[in-house]
Amino acid sequence: MRARILIVDDDPDILLGLENRVTWMGHEPLTADNGKDGLRLIQQEEPDLVLLDIQLPGLSGLEVLQQVKELTDRDHSANDAPHLGFGPTTPPIVMLTAFGTIERAVQAMQLGAIDFVTKPFTGDHITVVINKALALIALRRRVGALQQEVDDRYGPVVGNNVKFVSQLNLARQAAASSVTVLILGETGTGKEVVARSIHHWSPRKSKPFVAVNCAAIPKDLLENELFGHEKGAFTGAVKREAGKIEIAEGGTVFLDEIGDMSLQLQSHLLRVLQDQTFYRVGGTTSVHSDVRFIAATNKDLKQAIRQGAFREDLYYRLEVISVTLPPLRERMEDVPALADYFLSRAGKLGLQKRCTLSEPAVRLLTQYRWPGNIRELENVLTRAYILCPGNVIEPEHLHLSSEQTAPFQEAVPPTSSRLYHERTEAYSRWILEDALKRNDWNQTRAAEELGLQRTYFTKLLRQKQIPGRPPKTPPASPPEQDADHR
Ligand SMILES: Nc1ncnc2c1ncn2[C@@H]1O[C@H](COP(=O)(O)OP(=O)(O)OP(=O)(O)O)[C@@H](O)[C@H]1O
Ligand SMILES: [Mg+2]
Repeated sequence: MRARILIVDDDPDILLGLENRVTWMGHEPLTADNGKDGLRLIQQEEPDLVLLDIQLPGLSGLEVLQQVKELTDRDHSANDAPHLGFGPTTPPIVMLTAFGTIERAVQAMQLGAIDFVTKPFTGDHITVVINKALALIALRRRVGALQQEVDDRYGPVVGNNVKFVSQLNLARQAAASSVTVLILGETGTGKEVVARSIHHWSPRKSKPFVAVNCAAIPKDLLENELFGHEKGAFTGAVKREAGKIEIAEGGTVFLDEIGDMSLQLQSHLLRVLQDQTFYRVGGTTSVHSDVRFIAATNKDLKQAIRQGAFREDLYYRLEVISVTLPPLRERMEDVPALADYFLSRAGKLGLQKRCTLSEPAVRLLTQYRWPGNIRELENVLTRAYILCPGNVIEPEHLHLSSEQTAPFQEAVPPTSSRLYHERTEAYSRWILEDALKRNDWNQTRAAEELGLQRTYFTKLLRQKQIPGRPPKTPPASPPEQDADHR
């Protein structure tokens, strides 16, 4: 990297020496012999790095630093950007201090200077300091770029469905405090999107958001992943290492797939939730932590409690506020907006084309049952965007399985009768079958969803001779939807 480096010093010999050194290192030097000019050049020329003498006539080095700090703070509050140590107009600063001014150098570090060099210094010393500062800048830029990539991936939350919006509002209200939030929903319904949004809406947003997938990490390694370990805790533990909870200090830990956590680890987690302390693996002293926990699962935790696989006390700790995301098939009105959003995002894949959906394609998207929910919709559209030869996506480019598609004709309860009693009977059969289907034929959950006692639900199934297992064809869509299409 060829960096632009500003040198501010009132000693002409030092100024010239540093200018030559910077040029020799292959960078571009800028110079100022007083604080006022230095500050002006920082704002006008946007240098990558500043070497700033602490003792300057007029505006001192510390005063320049103070003003730069004010610019940084203003930038951050204006941009709402994470605090990376400096903003676009506020470069990192290395202080040049005379022997005997160490106290002021410490003051400078407190004001945000990244390093200091005591005069007199050698050329080699200053080379090392500049290289170290530039490595830090490169690292911070890389972090900024990665952060941007993640933000782009989890961009705006799209959706107007009433149930979805009410759950999102609940999440937004929960964000202001540090309460634990449990996010429930089938796979691909946007649990991680909502978890990241809660973090972003919270006062912790400038601190880390750290996600831990409890299902992806082998059970015996998860404890180490979360709590870290002490040196010598196990073979290969050559030094103390921080776990995800320590890394997220001040921020949010997202425990994804919490239903897959072992009972032993659940008890350790419970302790963190109760008194904000934990032990590193192999550790004997407790570590205090200040993190907010958000957990998510697509499993039925109440059932897991009944089966003895999930601790009831942990469940109640986690679900102080619980947010339930509806599956996509229950918010079909959001499909067109989500589809538009994913197509606009697909435009970033490097292909120079803009694609739209034909009317039959939109209709097909809104008839499909979306077992993989929003993630499946995203994948289907990305694939269609890449594979469709023109700019209009037709049904055949979507490659949707016909098994999951409820065609328009089937979207009526199975009766041609116009008689009141026959039609209500057909509707109530449809409601029961639909609830069973949507809950994977789990009668307890289906009954819960319909607000019925389990015993009454079973009685209804028996009365109406509805089998408690999958029928050969999928149940029809709700009658109101059918009316909408007519
Ligand atoms: N409301 C939404 N608006 C825009 N994009 C969304 C929305 N919900 C989900 N997505 C997108 O859908 C994909 C799946 O979302 P996410 O990873 O949050 O789902 P999930 O519920 O955590 O899934 P899983 O249970 O499989 O982990 C992501 O690429 C995400 O960007
Ligand atoms: Mg997820």
